[in-house]
Amino acid sequence: MANPSLLILAGDGIGPEVMAEVKKIIGWMGAKRGVSFDVTEDLVGGCAYDKHGVPLHDDTMAKAQEVDAVLLGAVGGPKYDSLDFSVKPERGLLRLRKEMDLFSNLRPAQCFDALADFSSLKKEVVAGLDIVIVRELTSGVYFGEPRGIFVEGNERVGINTQRYTESEIARVARSAFELARKRGNKVCSMEKANVMESGILWRDVVQEIHDKEYPDVQLSHMYADAGAMQLTRWPKQFDVIVTDNLFGDLLSDLAAMLTGSLGMLPSASLGAPMANGRPKALYEPVHGSAPDIAGTGKANPIACILSFAMALRYSFDMGEDAARVEAAVEKVLADGLRTADLMGPDGGTPISTTQMGDAIVAALDASL
Ligand code: NAD
Ligand code: IPM
Ligand code: MN
Repeated sequence: MANPSLLILAGDGIGPEVMAEVKKIIGWMGAKRGVSFDVTEDLVGGCAYDKHGVPLHDDTMAKAQEVDAVLLGAVGGPKYDSLDFSVKPERGLLRLRKEMDLFSNLRPAQCFDALADFSSLKKEVVAGLDIVIVRELTSGVYFGEPRGIFVEGNERVGINTQRYTESEIARVARSAFELARKRGNKVCSMEKANVMESGILWRDVVQEIHDKEYPDVQLSHMYADAGAMQLTRWPKQFDVIVTDNLFGDLLSDLAAMLTGSLGMLPSASLGAPMANGRPKALYEPVHGSAPDIAGTGKANPIACILSFAMALRYSFDMGEDAARVEAAVEKVLADGLRTADLMGPDGGTPISTTQMGDAIVAALDASL
């Protein structure tokens, strides 16, 4: 049988730095677990713009459609801030999500025991936290038409449109219910049905799908602003949260800080099943290109490494190896190893991106 195929798009800023550590894990899988991947690398974001004048070349898009999974680092940076909107680095990532139809973005927020003291919230609030935000990723205000900056009378007007069809809501709701069945069997759906018609439809459709297909799952609804409050007040009340594209973006950054650092949060963006029965998929950390620390060796590679673990689980049916990688991460944290973003107020000596990757590989070796 052919090796599983991976397209690596490391991107900009700390993207290539954290991806270098993932490549060590991929190498380890080949050497120690006898699992080799056919890896292709390509450009996305600012680096693709520098070479091709577009943030995602059509050839790269075509490759992404063919492989078993795409791994992405991060895109963007101040160098590209003044580019025309249509060629900004972020457009490359949005094109991948849209054209691969990756409608269900799983963003788990898990607080490792070793980091419970480090969160900005009290230890008892976050210790043992294990929730997943399911963010709708291919529609809503990110993609709705009309959009643009227009002139009306003697001033400019900026327009974006929040738009959801029933089927778009239904498919992401199903993916949240399916996930909940494998976990704590609870879904909380978040929208703003008090002020938005799209929110009213969202709530209705989620409820209908629940009643018809998943009556065994416990479902609740919350306004997204109250949801943000509840996430910081008592996040352990949640199991799976399902929400739209923009609310999901905001709530997942918020949830990241419950775990200690944005540098800890992985994600899986999943689409419809391919011929092999596995979903079309892209895996990426929730964080961005972190221009403030790029090139300094301070980046935490754990979010990207855990994103690869999600690829092992969701794209390659290698749940055991995924758990092994997650356990290795847990082990190095329990040993007190920390990158700079995980330093508490009393300081300590941080290790570098590379040292963190090496320590995780050493923990993997020790697990054999
Ligand atoms: P960011 O996530 O890049 O950084 C926010 C803060 O978190 C910074 O202080 C950064 O140093 C820190 N941080 C992020 N990841 C870290 C890591 N792995 N280790 C240690 N610290 C980390 O968000 P931003 O500053 O708002 O955006 C910077 C650029 O990244 C922008 O161009 C934005 O559009 C882009 N962005 C890209 C993605 C993506 O590629 N998926 C996601 C978010 C932002
Ligand atoms: C994310 C990012 C992206 C988003 C940007 C870079 C397009 O913030 O993946 O969370 O807004 O979805
Ligand atoms: Mn974001």
